[in-house]
Amino acid sequence: MDLADRAEAVLFANHTGRWTRPSAKQYPHQWNWDSGFISIGWSLIDWSRAELEIQSMLEAQWVEGMLPSVHFDRQHLHDYFPGPDRWPRAQQHVRRPGELTSGISNPPMLPIAARLVGDRNRDAQERRAFWQRVLAPLVESLRYFRTDRRLPGSPLVTVVHPWETGWDNSPRWDLLHAAGLRPKRPYERLDTRAVPPAQRPSSRDYDGYVALAEILDDADYRLPAYRARTPFLVHDVVFDALTYRAMGELDHIAADLGLPAPFPAAELTEFQWAFEEYHWNERHRTYYDYDCVGKKQIETPSAAALAALGGHLVEDLERVTGILEEHVRRSGHALPIPTVPSDAPTFDPVLYWRGPVWVNVNWLAVDGLLHLGLEGAAEAIREQTLDRLDAAGLAEYFNPLTGAACGAPEFSWSAALALDFLANRP
Ligand code: SER
Repeated sequence: MDLADRAEAVLFANHTGRWTRPSAKQYPHQWNWDSGFISIGWSLIDWSRAELEIQSMLEAQWVEGMLPSVHFDRQHLHDYFPGPDRWPRAQQHVRRPGELTSGISNPPMLPIAARLVGDRNRDAQERRAFWQRVLAPLVESLRYFRTDRRLPGSPLVTVVHPWETGWDNSPRWDLLHAAGLRPKRPYERLDTRAVPPAQRPSSRDYDGYVALAEILDDADYRLPAYRARTPFLVHDVVFDALTYRAMGELDHIAADLGLPAPFPAAELTEFQWAFEEYHWNERHRTYYDYDCVGKKQIETPSAAALAALGGHLVEDLERVTGILEEHVRRSGHALPIPTVPSDAPTFDPVLYWRGPVWVNVNWLAVDGLLHLGLEGAAEAIREQTLDRLDAAGLAEYFNPLTGAACGAPEFSWSAALALDFLANRP
């Protein structure tokens, strides 16, 4: 079978009837930003499943508008930790009675995917009907960040948990280690049964994740109460960049439907200025995350600034080529794009978000580079990613030094984005 056929087969195999789980064994529920990437893949082979993917995620929406990171499948509650019992108060916030969710969100890929998925339906009536159905809940999902996740003085999103960023154990979030949090309730991890522990976050990481979930639940997921007790509040450079893009995509959809812009230009400009202020580091000539507790930038080398290009708010070509060249220089002959440059002391070629290559990071970087007209750089990353997927399989992540597959096999967003990369080849 060629790569496209194998990628299609992975999506069909992981489809549950209602949505597409990221992988059968490791991640048996629906994940928010995964579903964004996955729907982009479906839009190329079975458009109705792309719409279903987005609609199913919207069914997990909270009354406050938040789209949770995880939408649980009742049939698999014993196959994944943490389940809804670790987010007990979250279940009171869900709009549709009976849906079970986590208590945090995820980078807003869903609005971006809704735009791309809509564009791929050539039937203008169907496209508009789809956009009419999803626009209001998607707008609410972004407004939630404005109403419930803002700190005084900053319009950027305040992210409350490493799981919310999607880059769980990235060295970007190692500040959590210093806090030495321990959960009150004992717990048992299930993620190291199917994937070797050397490729998964440490027990110290998990202690921090579970303890933060407890603090969040105690605070009933309200920022002021959580803020009083947590060591972890950040402006994530990728999250903010994707939020900016998501607002613009929803403005585009609204304009197409003849509706006023849900996010006025002045709001986008304010966000862009704040992005520059909080994230740009003039000394290192890159974009970093911001620690809202310590009130300083987190100067940790990673691929986050490259993934943030997918947000289409960084327009300075000199900066972008500088960031890319520096990452390549520091990573020698590693496959693009190691999530941590391979010369960094924190680099580990197989350890989840501490070095491995992730297809969604490459996709965001490629998309951003193409947006800036940097075709050569974009195509080099896309072709090397496709070669790797072809040779090693549609795995969750890859060792950038050897190219070996890591994590869960037959991973949905790797398959979906392989299809998108193939479709966009010149
Ligand atoms: N990425 C997390 C996990 O590994 C879930 O959000 O389980």
